[in-house]
Amino acid sequence: MTSSLRFDGGTAVITGAASGIGSGLARQAATLGMRVVLADLDPAALDAFAATLDTDVLCVPTDVSRPEAVEALAEAAWSRFGGVDLLFNNAGVMATGFSWEITPERFEHSFAVNVHGVMNGIRSFVPRMLARNLPARVVNTASVGGFLPSPMMSPYSATKFAVVALTESLYGELKMLGSPIGVSLLAPGPVKSGIFNDPFGGSHDRPEVRGFVDTMRTMLDTYGLTPDAFAQRVFEGIREDRYWLIPQPEIIDGALQQRTESILAARNPVLPSY
Ligand SMILES: NC(=O)c1ccc[n+]([C@@H]2O[C@H](COP(=O)([O-])OP(=O)(O)OC[C@H]3O[C@@H](n4cnc5c(N)ncnc54)[C@H](O)[C@@H]3O)[C@@H](O)[C@H]2O)c1
Repeated sequence: MTSSLRFDGGTAVITGAASGIGSGLARQAATLGMRVVLADLDPAALDAFAATLDTDVLCVPTDVSRPEAVEALAEAAWSRFGGVDLLFNNAGVMATGFSWEITPERFEHSFAVNVHGVMNGIRSFVPRMLARNLPARVVNTASVGGFLPSPMMSPYSATKFAVVALTESLYGELKMLGSPIGVSLLAPGPVKSGIFNDPFGGSHDRPEVRGFVDTMRTMLDTYGLTPDAFAQRVFEGIREDRYWLIPQPEIIDGALQQRTESILAARNPVLPSY
């Protein structure tokens, strides 16, 4: 099926746009003729990135964990461009370590950005999209880690499982209303980015944690898609009106089947191979 979503001349909002996957999504949107609204924490980084894009760009410094900031983002997008066709709730943070050594503040920060950030986007954008009543799409970024939990990053695994769940709820709700707003769950595998450069990652005294973070950084550098190659696959999936945007299915296929079978058979979890 082909989505009737408007790319050329349409408007895309991307949170976490200043680096990594978000920057690739913004570049791809611009290449397709979309106007882009870039949201991220650091205004200078946003402006520097915006200067590289050959399209109409609006930068809105935004902390997605703050509902009022995301409301201001939606307001700014609507008043500048009159509507939004594509919302990427992409901003996300990593937190690594042994579960019992991760502080409450780091857990709360992960939930504030990765889960509430997505919910804030839904709360501020979906009612406006419903009122506009034109084809539009909300793309929420989880991770293959939203299907396959991992040791050493429990806040990340827990928040990405939450994004998988809340996105499917949203999909059902919009279907119930017969609305023209599509929903997609985006589950990236490895993509070259700074996600493991979080200020806490590797700063622990524990060699196991440092080793884990180093392994993950090397894995992303070695096997990760570039954000641009990744974003191309994402837009192909959107064009095909796909709910499940899993651009690197080879990362998940066998492991998800094995996990599902082990749950159904009540067998103990199999650890990831890295
Ligand atoms: N890179 C990967 O391999 C990978 C794999 C699976 C999922 N993901 C997910 O993709 C998304 C993008 O990650 P990335 O790899 O590009 O990482 P990244 O660190 O390069 O980019 C994340 C961006 O989000 C911004 N950000 C962080 N907190 C924010 C906040 N409170 N408000 C607004 N912006 C904020 C950061 O400033 C940064 O620019 C995340 O949700 C991540 O969990 C990435």
